[in-house]
This record gives sequence, C-alpha cells and structure tokens, in this order.
Amino acid sequence: MDKLIIKGGKRLKGEVEITGAKNAALPVIAATLLAQGKHTISRIPDLRDIKTMGRLLENMGAEFHYEPHKAVIAADRIKNLEAPYELVKEMRASVLVLGPMLARFGRAKVSLPGGCAIGARPINLHLMGLEKMGAKIELESGYVMASAKRLKGAVIYFDTVTVTGTENLMMAASLAKGVTVLENAAREPEVVDLANALTAMGAKINGAGESIIKIEGVDELRPLTHKIIPDRIETGTFMAIAGITGGDITIRGCMPEHVQAFLIKLKAAGLKVEETADGVRAVGPARPNAVDIETAPYPGFPTDMQAQFMALMSKAQGTSIITETIFENRFMHVAELRRMGADISFKGSTATVRGVRKLKGANVMATDLRASASLVVAALGAEGETTIHRVYHMDRGYEKIEEKLTMLGVDVRREKSMTR
Ligand code: EPZ
Repeated sequence: MDKLIIKGGKRLKGEVEITGAKNAALPVIAATLLAQGKHTISRIPDLRDIKTMGRLLENMGAEFHYEPHKAVIAADRIKNLEAPYELVKEMRASVLVLGPMLARFGRAKVSLPGGCAIGARPINLHLMGLEKMGAKIELESGYVMASAKRLKGAVIYFDTVTVTGTENLMMAASLAKGVTVLENAAREPEVVDLANALTAMGAKINGAGESIIKIEGVDELRPLTHKIIPDRIETGTFMAIAGITGGDITIRGCMPEHVQAFLIKLKAAGLKVEETADGVRAVGPARPNAVDIETAPYPGFPTDMQAQFMALMSKAQGTSIITETIFENRFMHVAELRRMGADISFKGSTATVRGVRKLKGANVMATDLRASASLVVAALGAEGETTIHRVYHMDRGYEKIEEKLTMLGVDVRREKSMTR
C-alpha cells in the first residue's frame, strides 16, 4: 500500500498535459468484442483499470496488447463468455462486456458487481434493457446468466440516468435486429465517444449526447481505429488545484467544452479561466468565494468533481452548500478533510462547508477514487505536510500523479507503507 507525502502551501505555476479518459476508454475497449479483426485505440491512460479490462478480454480469449498509450485488440477467438468474480470485484466497469457478449455471441455469464464505497450501484437498469431486447436473464450464485438467440430492437426508458447502462445497451443494440430507442439516456462525453467509436465500426447511431438515442442494428461491425477523448475529471481536478493554491496552471490537451458546468462554478468561486490554443489556463484567487453546487447527470455539475470542489470550498470566504444527488454515500472525504481543519458537516445528501482560512497538513486516508483526489487538492492548499494513505485509489484514475504535481513545483514523494 503506497502513500503520498505532499508539502502544501505553495502557489503552483506551470503546465500539465491531460491524459485520455478512463471512463471513455473502458467502454470503447469492451466494444472491440463486437467485431472480428484488429482494433487500434490510442490515448488510453496507463491505469490499473485498463489492465484489468485487458485481463478480462484475454480471459475470454481475445488478444490484448497495451503499451502506453495505445492498445491493439483482436477478439477473433473468443471461447470463454464469462466475466469472473475475481475480475469484476476489482472493477465494476467489467459489466460493460455484458452487452457486447450477448449481442455478438448470444450468451454471457457476468459476475454481479458488488456494492462499492460510494453506493450500492446496482445494474438492474442494464438487465431491464437487455430483457426488453429479448434476452433471458437469470441470477445464479452471484452471476448474471444471460442468453438471446438474437437481440431485437426495443424502446427502453431509464428510470435513472445511467452512464454504463446507456453504454451497455448502445453496444447491444448495435448488432440487434431492428431499431432500439434509449430514452432518458446518459449524455456524458464518454457516451458520445463510445457512439463515435461504434459509428466508425459501422453502427447506425443517432442522438448520442442527447436524452434520446436511436440505434438501428446491423448484421456485422468492422474493426476500429479510435483516439480516446481527454479526461474531463482530471482537467477539473487540476483547475481545483489552481483554485486552492492561488496558482497559475496551463492545462494542455483538454476539451473545455466538456467542463462547462464546472467552469461556471469555478469562475463564481473567483478563478480566472481562459481558453488557450490547446486547452485552458486557470488562475486561482487569493481566497475562493463560497459557491453552492448540486451534482447532476451531464451537462450538470459532475458527481466525480464533487469531492474536489468540496476541498476547494473548505478554504472559501463564506459557507457553501454541496448536494450530492447521484450516489448515496459520496461524502467519505468529509471526515478526512475535517482532520485537516475543514469545518464541514452533512446530513443525508447535503453538506455544509464553512470556509476556514487555513488547512493544516495531517495523516489522511483515501477511501475511493475521487475522495483521494479531493485529499490531494486539500493537501496542496494546506500548511505543512500531508500523508495520504491507500493512494492506490488515486492510481485508478490519475496517471503519474506525482510526476504531474512535481512539474507544477510541488514537493511530493511516494513511499511504501508498512500498514494496510
Ligand atoms: C459511471 O458509473 C462512471 N464510471 C462513474 O465514475 C461516475 O461517477 C458515474 O458514471 C456517474 O457519472 C464509469 O463510467 C466507468 P451510473 P456508473 O450507472 O455508470 C444508479 C469514477 O469516479 N443506477 O450512471 O456505474 C446508480 O446506483 C467513477 O470514475 C441504478 O440504480 O454510474 C447511481 O445512483 C465513479 N441502476 C446512478 O444510477 C442501474 O442499473 C448513476 O449511476 C444503474 C445505475
């Protein structure tokens, strides 16, 4: 178990290059199961989850070659239509192979993802959609046993907006017989990136990025060449770092149009953000203003930026109200931020953050991916040294975080931890 030791309190200045989006790469890698031939995907981040997805595909019989930041994949000899518990428990996004397996091979055995730190995160809507498309779904000893002679088009309404649910069904519908309509679909940029990849494979998809997506099934898809979009959450995280350190950070290789809701809130908090030739430049204020936020599906304020924004607000002038509407347990960073002197309380899905002038470095524990990012933001805005334990959570979504921070002038080092 590694830990990160960060010395905070400096105004950071410099440039950072944004990596490809984990949450776009994972569904696009799963989509390669839909077609024969050699697929080439670039700008794939060098992260543990990518390797887990690669192991999953290899376990099924696919060839998966990855070297930063390119994957070459061939799913010609799939012989094992199973996503085993050992892999799914490591990464719930493994469920994204369910739709492609059913669509191309007519059968799938996928371990039900357990809950995770931030919530129960069921996949009932994924299964509801596949059943509407004619799949037989049974649950047996923690596995989804699914089969379908050939999936057929259907009208599917999502009671709750689900990102991977939309992605799973968009992939399944690409090879179904007839037209599928996804209603109340997720509009995230990662969904659009997957739709663009599927279209490049020959799928017929209209409306990706909107709430209603129409997919006309085809009989066969062709191999893919695709470049993954940059990671909007990493982009936002570095903007929050500029905000809390009063720094001046040029963020290169990002897509500002993917972070509009977050940008509006950062500007209200007092940051100056201007677009540059290949990204943005974020300049933080001496002290941020308090700003209220409420998370929502895209294009609303992203839940994956809530924890980082809370860290920024912990030093704001005034009190901010933060409401988390997507996951039922996404405030685990609050207790850790309080150890650093933040004045935060929460009841149910609403947190009250009373800004303090100073945060103090402390020993803190990462509990999930974005909570760990919020602890990095807070550590950079705190006086003294912060040690972030269980930093493997951070490594799931941020490639080479200490190298990027060092480039910005941060005094940061990684150490092996003797304890868990
Ligand atoms: C995706 O998770 C992302 N992961 C998450 O990012 C992100 O936080 C989340 O979308 C919301 O934006 C990937 O893309 C790999 P959902 P996903 O299905 O698809 C409920 C990160 O930090 N729901 O959109 O699993 C669910 O419980 C990760 O990178 C059902 O009830 O999220 C939640 O309350 C964390 N039934 C809400 O919908 C279902 O069948 C949104 O979940 C599916 C979802």
